[in-house]
Amino acid sequence: MSIKYKHLGKLITCDGPDGGGKSTQLKILAEYLKAKGYDVITSREPGGTPLGEELRKILLGSVMSIDTEIMLFAAIRAEHMAALIKPAIVSGKIIVCDRFSDSTFAYQGCGRGRERDVELLEEFVLDGFEPHYTLFFDVTLEESNKRISSRNVTRDRFEKEQIEFKKRVYHGYLLRYLENPHRMHRIDANKPLEDVSTDVKEWVDNVFIPGNPIEQVTE
Ligand code: TYD
Repeated sequence: MSIKYKHLGKLITCDGPDGGGKSTQLKILAEYLKAKGYDVITSREPGGTPLGEELRKILLGSVMSIDTEIMLFAAIRAEHMAALIKPAIVSGKIIVCDRFSDSTFAYQGCGRGRERDVELLEEFVLDGFEPHYTLFFDVTLEESNKRISSRNVTRDRFEKEQIEFKKRVYHGYLLRYLENPHRMHRIDANKPLEDVSTDVKEWVDNVFIPGNPIEQVTE
């Protein structure tokens, strides 16, 4: 007879406009959860699987029609769900994912003005599934632009978009946040990095751990 510590599989997504420091905070979040005893894997969208990562290069690097763009994001998510997310949830893992369906709603739905198509594809690909928790890293357009222009890396085609597009994306996130209070938690990402990570850890301590205690089971 051995004693094991178990918890139920969960998907936590980190989402928000570019320049909110999501990726840095995601690493801190994953490490903090691991230190608390959870079985954690990290992933990202677009990407997350070998096929998804190949499609990511095409999606971020090539010029394409909006229809193609929307369907490529959907195809990447379908593969991600089947090959990684569902099996990981079934085996009791906590998946921490950089961007997910809220990005598609904000960028393609609101940014590109294709909300109805995005909704239809979300229904087709996710079939009612949604992240268990989403940390919405809320950063103003001004702060986001400041951070993006100070980075020494090539910007992807979404980061190069016009201000009007970015405004629609931001509005999309706010809308999504207001419509999904049961799973979306807003983090003020305008603050300095250390303060943001303190807020992330507080969320883990006050919300995630109480809702997902690590049960001790004997086998
Ligand atoms: P990301 O990997 O977050 O880029 P970075 O690491 O440079 O911040 O995402 C790449 C871009 O893809 C980002 O600008 C947002 C965009 N995107 C969409 O337009 N729709 C989507 O569904 C997703 C997941 C991302």
